[in-house]
Amino acid sequence: MTHAAVQAPAFVKHPRLIAWVAEMAALCKPAAIHWCDGSEAEYDRLCQLLVDAGSFKKLNPAKRPNSYLAWTDPSDVARVEDRTYICSEKKEDAGPTNNWMDPAAMRTTLNPLFDGCMAGRTMYVVPFSMGPLGSPIAHIGVELSDSAYVAVNMKHMTRMGQAVYDVLGTDGEFVPCMHTVGAPLAAGQKDVAWPCNPTVKYIVHYPETREIWSYGSGYGGNALLGKKCFALRIASTMGRDEGWLAEHMLILGVTNPQGKKYHVAAAFPSACGKTNFAMLIPPVGMPGWGVTTIGDDIAWIKPDAQGNLRAINPEAGYFGVAPGTNMQTNPNCMLSLNKDVIFTNVALTDDGDVWWEGLGDAPAHLIDWQGKDWTPEDGKAGRKAAHPNSRFTVSATNNPALDSEWDNPEGVVIDAFIFGGRRSNTVPLVTEARNWVEGVYMAATMGSETTAAAFGAQGVVRRDPFAMLPFAGYNMSDYFQHWLNLGAKLQAAGAKLPRIYKTNWFRKDANGKFIWPGFGENTRILKWMIDRIENEAQGVEHAVGISPRYEDIRWNGLDFSREQFDLVSDINAADWAEELKLHDELFEKLAHNLPTELTTAKAALAERLAS
Ligand code: GTP
Ligand code: SPV
Ligand code: MN
Repeated sequence: MTHAAVQAPAFVKHPRLIAWVAEMAALCKPAAIHWCDGSEAEYDRLCQLLVDAGSFKKLNPAKRPNSYLAWTDPSDVARVEDRTYICSEKKEDAGPTNNWMDPAAMRTTLNPLFDGCMAGRTMYVVPFSMGPLGSPIAHIGVELSDSAYVAVNMKHMTRMGQAVYDVLGTDGEFVPCMHTVGAPLAAGQKDVAWPCNPTVKYIVHYPETREIWSYGSGYGGNALLGKKCFALRIASTMGRDEGWLAEHMLILGVTNPQGKKYHVAAAFPSACGKTNFAMLIPPVGMPGWGVTTIGDDIAWIKPDAQGNLRAINPEAGYFGVAPGTNMQTNPNCMLSLNKDVIFTNVALTDDGDVWWEGLGDAPAHLIDWQGKDWTPEDGKAGRKAAHPNSRFTVSATNNPALDSEWDNPEGVVIDAFIFGGRRSNTVPLVTEARNWVEGVYMAATMGSETTAAAFGAQGVVRRDPFAMLPFAGYNMSDYFQHWLNLGAKLQAAGAKLPRIYKTNWFRKDANGKFIWPGFGENTRILKWMIDRIENEAQGVEHAVGISPRYEDIRWNGLDFSREQFDLVSDINAADWAEELKLHDELFEKLAHNLPTELTTAKAALAERLAS
């Protein structure tokens, strides 16, 4: 395809964008270009195309209207952190937690890979807004992808389509996002159901020029470039430069029985409960409490003129973990999945519906995510029918608990931040930070057991500062400093900062069972936090912060004993001595530019623990 062949539709009025598409088409050499308009008709056509190609199975419309199932290549099931790069001019700006390559060297590596990479395929031009169209907090991106799967997923996950061009006008700013599955087709070569490059993958960010180049994967955060690549890695660097925050956080609204509404943003690492918490339904023992969803994965947070931190969800849909989701753990999520869903890597039932581990009793026969027959006997032998990182893609508007403010371009004022890792031991159920710096310390030193959301080993405790380890677009120590600076600046201006809490829903007993019931019961902890903000709840101060006593939590309708509460709350001296060593290790690794407030906070913590 040559420059001359690139003919933009009339609704695209942006010469620089058209020239870029032409330039990229000349490089990638697709067989055709499709300029997405974001219409329903286009969505239906592309889904049909994916069905015809064998990439999608249309689910039984009587069971799951207008829904599809995709099975990926087994090499392409999660984010690839070891193939993800931050290519800043200086290595120290990427920091010790990111893979780095010199940008010029990376371009030299990628150029030959992208040359002709879309041969035999269509290049989709996907315009999208992260955040409400035209919001002062929103930003625009344009993804060029040779995957129709990406185009239809982007329709759910972002505000995608023609209206974006109206906001862009003739010279608006956009983040260019290049994506290819890295599987060019020779003339006459038959395609596979899930094209990708099983051996070569690169997820590359150039923070200074605000570009994203993704090669070889069609899956989730590797390929839906508005999500982790733009809304976290590129946006976090924009936030550093412009005084705002891009965070791996859900946003929820919580209303107390008096009708007062609060907003909470919570950072849990991947597959550690953000979607669950964002959609939770308070238990019957807590009448009058209500929770509504603003976002389930990403928050963009900017201070307003009054010094309030205002948050928007830059996304428009959920790319959520399927396993473990059922009518008990997350009813709102289940109801969101009744229609208009794209499932990826779950199992197919004999009647054309979907199944995953934790949904309920397994049917007598399934086709697993790799297309093989599966029976409950296989399950007993440890073979999973759905991939542990299998997911659903669905528009936020499907969520019955969607907050009325979710699309408000002004965002909502955040009253509390929560940071929560997945820890079998050591970290108590909930702790309040005594001040902003202690809260930043808690978030910075957070550890969590790794999950299937990233390719590689699972269940290993690693430090995951702010749940941003794989997503910070710049040096982690500079990121800590940015949080400290923002807090100090707002406090100096007389603003009331959000409280900061640390949670752990995942402590286990001697038999390896979760002790805390979690899910909807987490409302009890949310209530304690809200009551603390109103000075209506007690707590006890200890070495690590402030935690509730048994009698400070509302237990109506839940059988949870004082002994069980002690098991999830106690601060074990030996465990914490080990924990502090891990904080030391982290701080040694992050020594370059590590804020002195945090080393001071660590020394104070060590002293409190020793006394
Ligand atoms: P990403 O989309 O990967 O960023 O993750 P997420 O944080 O949105 O993950 P999600 O809410 O989908 O978490 C999924 C996993 O967490 C499932 O295995 C759930 O069963 C488990 N989970 C969620 N909430 C709780 C809880 O309160 N207690 C326990 N024990 N498990 C939970
Ligand atoms: C995560 O891994 O934190 C996700 C899924 O939210 S993905 O979009 O694939 O990164
Ligand atoms: Mn996530």
